[in-house]
Amino acid sequence: MKKILITGGAGYIASHTNIELLKDDYELVLLDNFSNSCMESVKRVEDLSSKKVSFYQADLLNQDELNNVFEQEKDIDAVIHFAALKSVGESVEKPLDYYKNNISGSLNLYRSMQKYGVSNIVFSSSATVYGDPAEIPVKESAPTSCTNPYGHTKLMMEQILLDSAKAYDWNVVILRYFNPVGAHESGRIGEDPEYPANLLPFVSQVAAGVREKVMVFGNDWDTHDGTGVRDYIHVVDLAQAHVKSINKLEKSTGSFIYNIGTGQGYSVLEMITAFSQACGQEVPYEVGPRRAGDIGEVMGDPQKSAKELGWKAQYKLKDMVESAWKWQSMNPNGYRA
Ligand code: NAD
Ligand code: WQD
Repeated sequence: MKKILITGGAGYIASHTNIELLKDDYELVLLDNFSNSCMESVKRVEDLSSKKVSFYQADLLNQDELNNVFEQEKDIDAVIHFAALKSVGESVEKPLDYYKNNISGSLNLYRSMQKYGVSNIVFSSSATVYGDPAEIPVKESAPTSCTNPYGHTKLMMEQILLDSAKAYDWNVVILRYFNPVGAHESGRIGEDPEYPANLLPFVSQVAAGVREKVMVFGNDWDTHDGTGVRDYIHVVDLAQAHVKSINKLEKSTGSFIYNIGTGQGYSVLEMITAFSQACGQEVPYEVGPRRAGDIGEVMGDPQKSAKELGWKAQYKLKDMVESAWKWQSMNPNGYRA
């Protein structure tokens, strides 16, 4: 495989994945509508890699714009499908926007793939499809159950792909990410949320003085210190899982689902402490009530991805928080000048 189309190619996880793919000499075609990103991340990826990508500002909701990309880039071998709206809270308030963007956008993409004979795809799914799992660490074979519209869109997109794989002989790798955090070691590529919905970007902004304190969502969970426990995964490890997935599609046919996590959990308080050490100051926090729809603890079982993808997380918690802090300190306004 040579040429890969990256949807949502200017986003957080895509930017890191692009760097890893360019290192391995893949040719990249990026597509993004900039609903949650900007051209600066693409420029920085090119800078850091000393390589050029082909970029299209296009919306998955516009079939003509999509077809134009496939028309211009005739020999796409595989797609990595990152583009989606991703905020759980926002999806509860605006379910129709989420279903339209994530489901209709994906259907358009799959239609274009069919039309132009592209049959290999890696899809960004999420641990949210496990709901509140009965057994931890959770295996890929665990029952799925979603509690919010965002999660439903991920589960539906998984199902549409699995059905399409059977009907049209597509080859599909579905990656269920746990909690992606951290940034590129250069400090030039990272997560740039307008308002941070996730724990680590929030902690980061508190450390930088942009926000006053972290609100810890409950300390009465059934966990070792009472605060929520998650399986945080360094975004560069996650990026490498995509390279391994493309490698998998180069040598096998069929559909595969993999957890992408470390198998190890850290609590909210442990994350705040680790971050405080990384930035050399106490990050202020206050314990508040539980967040609606939250769960106490989740970790992914990474054994299947280790065995079948040959992928294993390399980075430790210290690397995650230090890289997040480096990105925050070097880019106090994110990608904005
Ligand atoms: P991100 O918002 O940084 O990247 C998504 C990109 O898709 C953005 O650049 C956005 O502009 C683009 N996009 C959205 N809708 C589009 C459309 N209709 N047409 C064209 N481009 C569009 O998010 P991310 O954190 O990099 O997430 C990437 C993928 O991983 C998403 O599918 C997300 O659901 C999934 N995921 C993310 C996390 C996480 O915590 N970050 C966890 C699990 C799964
Ligand atoms: C982590 C822990 C919170 C913020 C979400 C999505 C999931 C995936 C990743 C996309 C929890 C606690 C958080 C804060 C806190 N995204 N917390 N104060 O909820 O595990 O997963 O992002 O697919 O689908 O659901 O991540 O970072 O929001 O929370 O105490 O200000 O931090 O309660 O225990 P979550 P998170």
